Formats: sequence, structure tokens, C-alpha cells
Amino acid sequence: MAESLFGHVEPFAGDPILSLNDSFKADPRAEKVNLSIGVYTDEKGRIPVLGSVRAAYERIGFAERPYLPMDGHAGYREGVQKLVFGANHPALAARCVATIQTIGGTGAVGIAADFLAKHVPGRTVLVSDPTWENHHGLFQRAGFKTTTYPYWDRANRSVDFAGMVEALESAEAGSIVVIQPVCHNPTGVDLSEEQQAAVSDVLVAKGHIAVFDMAYQGFGTGVEADAAFVRRYAERASCLVANSFSKNLSLYGERCGGLSVVCRDADEAERVLGQLKLAVRRSYSSPPMTGGLLVAAVLGDDELRAQWTREVDEMRTRMDAMRKLLAERIRALSNGVDVDFLLSQRGMFSFTGLSEQRVRDMREKDGVYLVGSGRMCVAGLNEENVPKVAESFVAASQA
Ligand code: LMR
Repeated sequence: MAESLFGHVEPFAGDPILSLNDSFKADPRAEKVNLSIGVYTDEKGRIPVLGSVRAAYERIGFAERPYLPMDGHAGYREGVQKLVFGANHPALAARCVATIQTIGGTGAVGIAADFLAKHVPGRTVLVSDPTWENHHGLFQRAGFKTTTYPYWDRANRSVDFAGMVEALESAEAGSIVVIQPVCHNPTGVDLSEEQQAAVSDVLVAKGHIAVFDMAYQGFGTGVEADAAFVRRYAERASCLVANSFSKNLSLYGERCGGLSVVCRDADEAERVLGQLKLAVRRSYSSPPMTGGLLVAAVLGDDELRAQWTREVDEMRTRMDAMRKLLAERIRALSNGVDVDFLLSQRGMFSFTGLSEQRVRDMREKDGVYLVGSGRMCVAGLNEENVPKVAESFVAASQA
């Protein structure tokens, strides 16, 4: 070719989670263990196809596949609203919530960022320190500057609540604040109910715009309990809520999520819904159908929904059991290594406190993959791999 058009294009440094997952797949060692990406695997190390989802597949069959509307499948959107807010939430009764089907939880946060960039431009966006890396990227892509509020108290392996509140209080009024209401990624530590109330008070008093990213509903305490923070907040103030079905319906590759905007009244919600549809049209036109039908089928049927809730409970119970098992194994190997954090943190992730170098040691020496930040996905543990992980962890902790 005469000319290079793209010679200046820089190489992609890789994504700290997805690229690591690629490296894991390419690792030829048979005994490797993937505790990096947030994917739940069962006791045999497989991504489960939930019984409720299997039944939904049978129901949806080989129907025709027209385009879905820009805002998605109607039954899906209703299912999202009832799941996130609870069927009897006053905001739903007053038709104050605009909800769209999105391409996973990432798509929900992305459309939220696009919507906010257009309608409330120029605000500061605050995300927790640390957070899921992509929060920064998605809001920056939409044109925002992002900054952080303290969240992780390294010394006590808990929430730096005083630091968080102080940062939210001193942020410019009307800032956008991204909050993970349950099963915080990457730390595994959540706000207590009292802390949630206090944070809500600050958000409301400062006129901040809360964007809740709820990707793990059901993996903390239960499907209903995990939504309590969001539900209470939505009774007090407008907010945005992104949710995901990747983990709790084990539908990773189907890319199923939702975005709900809680508005002041029904008229505002209708206009907001219109603008969300426009944002979707400009980005990918309309969401995909198969996952949409599956989610709508599970959430829209009392029996399947009850079955699904039991399946979420089983996944959560198994993760909690694996936390205990790993803690026991580590204790059996060494008294000197602190494992309490495994038992107090919840959801898919635990923040181990291991440095990047120690994480690299575990990967290179033992084929045990954690994210560089020291995040361990406990949903990848099983009875077979726990002994190896425990040994690797103790060696890294004592190095
Ligand atoms: C994770 O944090 O590992 C998951 O949420 C997957 C992702 O998209 O990063």
C-alpha cells in the first residue's frame, strides 16, 4: 500500500480483567485456576445453565426474530422494574420509572453516561476508590471527567465510611455519584443499612445524581434484600439504576441488563424514556432478542421466577461455603495468614490485599489467576481447586 492510514494507532494495553481472562485461556497448564473474571462456575467448574433458563429456552422456541423496539422487550422491562424496585414500589405505581433493556450491565452504565452527558453535561463524576475499572472509562467516553471518593480502608479491610461521606459532602453540588449498592466490585465490602441511610442523606442534601450499578443482585443476602438500598433511595429522590442478568441468570454471553431512571412524575418519565430510546438508536438501534425473551420468560412467570430465586440462593450459598472452605484450608496451612476478610466480605469478590507482584507470583508459579489489584473471584473456587489456591495464597502472603 502506498500510504499507511493507521500507522499512528497505538497498541491496546489490554483490559485488566478481560485480557487476563484471555491469558488464562491460553495458559497450557492443566491445573490452572481462574479466579480473575467475575464469572460464577459450579462445583465442577462449569458455567451453569440454570434450570429456570433451560425451561425458558424451551418456551421461547424457534419463534421469528423481528427487531425489538429501541427500549427492548416489554415483558423484560416490566420484569426489570419489579425485580429492581419490588412490585409494590410507589415509584412504579406512579409510573415514574423509565426502564430500557440494555446490552448487559456495561451497556446500561454506558447508556446512562450518554444520557447524562447530553442532559446534565459538565458535571463531575465520582466513583469509588477502588471500583470496577470500566466505570471510569464509560463516563470518560461520554465526555465526563471522573474522580474518586474513598471507599476501601486498607488497614481495616472495611469501608472508609468517614472518608466517603466527607468526599461526597465536599464535592460540587449536583455531582454524579456512581454507587455499587451490593456486592461491591472489587472489594466485597458493602455499606451497612445505617451507612446507606447516611450516604443517602448526603446525596439528597447535595443534589447529587446517584447512579446505582447493581450487577450482583441476589449474590449478597438474597434477591429482595440486596435491592433494599436502591428501593429506599428511589422513594426519596430521582436516580439511575443499572442492573445486570449476566451473573444472577448466568447469561453472560447473552448480554442482558437494564437501565431504569427514577423521575419526579409520569410525564418526566415518559420524556426520559424517549431520550433513552434515542440514545439507544444512536448507539446500536435496539437490543438483541434471544436473551430478552429468556429473561422475560423467567421473570414473567411465577413458577419460573420462584425456581430462579432458589437457583440464585444456591449459587450464593455455594460461594459462601467456598469462602469458608478456603479460609479453613489457609488456616490449616498457616496461623499467621489473616483470613477473616474471606468470611466478612460477600458476593463474587474478595479483596485479598495482595500486591500486584504477589498476584503475578501466584499466576506464574502456580497458574492461579487473580486480578492485578488483588481481587479474587471466589465464585471460581470449588472443592477440587481450593487446596491448590490455599497453598498458593499462603506462599504469596508469606513471600
Ligand atoms: C468483572 O468485574 O470481572 C465482571 O464484571 C466482568 C467484566 O465485565 O469486567
